[in-house]
Amino acid sequence: MNAPPLQDMYWPPVRPFQGLAPELARFLSAPSDTQAELLARLRGDPEAHGRFLHEHLATLCSRSLGYRDGPATMTRDDDLEIALFAARTRLERELIDVWATPAPVPEPDSQEAAADYLDELAADNSGVSHPLFRYLATEATRPQIEYFVRCELIRNEVVDDEVALLVVGLQGRQKAVAAANLWDECGRGRLENFHTYWLRRQLGSAAGWEELARYRSAHPWFAKITSNLFTALLTRPSRTQAAYGCFFVFESWVEPHFTQLLEGMDRVGLRDEDTRLYFTAHTRIDPRHSQELSEGLRAQRPRLSPAEICQVLRGAHLAVDAGTRQYDHLLRHLVRWRTPQAG
Ligand SMILES: [Fe+2]
Ligand SMILES: [Fe+2]
Repeated sequence: MNAPPLQDMYWPPVRPFQGLAPELARFLSAPSDTQAELLARLRGDPEAHGRFLHEHLATLCSRSLGYRDGPATMTRDDDLEIALFAARTRLERELIDVWATPAPVPEPDSQEAAADYLDELAADNSGVSHPLFRYLATEATRPQIEYFVRCELIRNEVVDDEVALLVVGLQGRQKAVAAANLWDECGRGRLENFHTYWLRRQLGSAAGWEELARYRSAHPWFAKITSNLFTALLTRPSRTQAAYGCFFVFESWVEPHFTQLLEGMDRVGLRDEDTRLYFTAHTRIDPRHSQELSEGLRAQRPRLSPAEICQVLRGAHLAVDAGTRQYDHLLRHLVRWRTPQAG
């Protein structure tokens, strides 16, 4: 098969690792009790706490997924890897136990009842109806919509690897559903149908690739919240079922959110097929994906234990909390800079 030219560019659109941020380097070299004290102190300032966690978790996520912008992904440095793993463990614990504010999880008496609960949650939660998307549909300017599209590209650029990690540790129907989702992400074997290839089309050329790589340092911490949460759930065995519940919520949001985004794109005259394809295709694909995830839970064999069912729902509630807070920040950010420049 001839690889199309856009396929030649490194994916995701990131430059090679340039060195650790000084703040993260200091955190890595601090003793464990000093790290704990620093995090405890930051809790008094929610903005500083969120920024610290999400900026540095994003660096550690790139590392977990093995991309070239992550520390120690292309080089061998065991001491650094050990320090990175310890820091990630601590920051994820802070993220999930302290920073996150999920609603309490009910205790359904079966996986069928849990699947019903998830279906109801998908239809009614603070993320699915978030005012950010009404704003994009009815009020946002073209530069604001372009800015949001770039945030979505960065959020979605690694979804195929995230889904690949989701497959690990599942069994039976749940594994089949996750694997089918991954096969879709990988274009069912055709490079030009990889969902990330549709994102390559948004960049359009090597110049678009460079522009995005240049922009990255200005990408705000609150646009990384959902990716950081999902990676934290995906990369630890005890959180496998929570990752499944989290992914269900993210998939269920795609169709309602992208429909409103496309409305906004129509309104401001953004009609370019290369920009729109990722969104139009997903409004068709993702309702099926979320339905399959809920059906996969319902029909799962071997049956899940009560503790595993709770984990699925906890992951779903963590997703609602993280997504809602990310959208709150993004809406405020867009409104504050009515015509945002690169950053
Ligand atoms: Fe996709
Ligand atoms: Fe999907």
